[in-house]
Amino acid sequence: MARLNILRYPDARLHKVAAPVTVFDEGLKRLVADMAETMYTAPGIGLAAIQVDVAKQVIVVDVSERRDSLVVLVNPEILEATGNSDIEEGCLSVPGIYELVERAERVKVRAYDRNGNAFTLEAQGLLAVCIQHEMDHLKGKVFVEHLSQLKQQRIRAKLAKQLRKSA
Ligand code: NI
Repeated sequence: MARLNILRYPDARLHKVAAPVTVFDEGLKRLVADMAETMYTAPGIGLAAIQVDVAKQVIVVDVSERRDSLVVLVNPEILEATGNSDIEEGCLSVPGIYELVERAERVKVRAYDRNGNAFTLEAQGLLAVCIQHEMDHLKGKVFVEHLSQLKQQRIRAKLAKQLRKSA
């Protein structure tokens, strides 16, 4: 396994649209293992392949306290979404920024696991929000892009300042 480099907003590569996975091979299993290691090490609760510059529809999520409940979603699709959640979100590609985004409280998702087996998953609360956040990444959308232009400008300025400080 290897730790992968996480792209930082506003990197244009975060806006690529991810393609569906068509071959469930060793390369995919390696990608999933590397993404999981990268997410756990960061540490974070979710990571989409696009964040490590791989434009494929692959997501890893673990919202458990003990960090022992990895969920792998390949080619995920939302079948049902209900309710409204109010959980603040963050993103490994947008360090230090936490904002409220409108999300469904519950989702039913259909996806494939890393071996190509289809399954459905019903999620609520943090897991549901996390899945919706990661699925946005697959469409090339970063969560801050749900916010007003003014807020986005402020966030970009804050991140540029962080970057200058760390340089
Ligand atoms: Ni994110």
